[in-house]
Amino acid sequence: MSKKQRGAVSVLVLNGPNLNLLGQREPEIYGTATLADIAVLCAKTAKELGASADFRQSNHEGELIDWIQGAAKKHQAVVINAAGYSHTSIALMDALGSCGLPVIEVHLSNIYRREEFRHSSYISRAARGVICGLGAEGYSLAIRAAVHCLKNGT
Ligand code: DQA
Repeated sequence: MSKKQRGAVSVLVLNGPNLNLLGQREPEIYGTATLADIAVLCAKTAKELGASADFRQSNHEGELIDWIQGAAKKHQAVVINAAGYSHTSIALMDALGSCGLPVIEVHLSNIYRREEFRHSSYISRAARGVICGLGAEGYSLAIRAAVHCLKNGT
């Protein structure tokens, strides 16, 4: 662990478009947890690990990119569910690839069991690891994975 990482670890947790509608949006696919519930879960998981989670959502690609560009100033890792942008955004992939932090990609649903256009994710190319199909719990696992990467320097 580097000097910078010896203090409390802060994980930036980013959520892309339409995830603000969780709870009411296709609950048979995405579950009944709201984004606020997931934020609480992330805070709890981070606290257990002696870390903190800065949880954000945006429907705007550029805003997500601005947050990623600024991430290294305050955070040590990024967890991201880029939602629909996962399958379309080279710009988000480029931002993540140059942010200098370990990135863990998360999806609530198992994108590989769904329509073919969801099988490919640009985000995966910039991610250290990917968790999908485990619902809200996937966020907790992603934070654990991010902290694990930092502790082990992997
Ligand atoms: C999602 C999967 C994406 O294909 C979809 O566009 C989403 C949510 C998920 O968490 O399962 O908005 O990222």
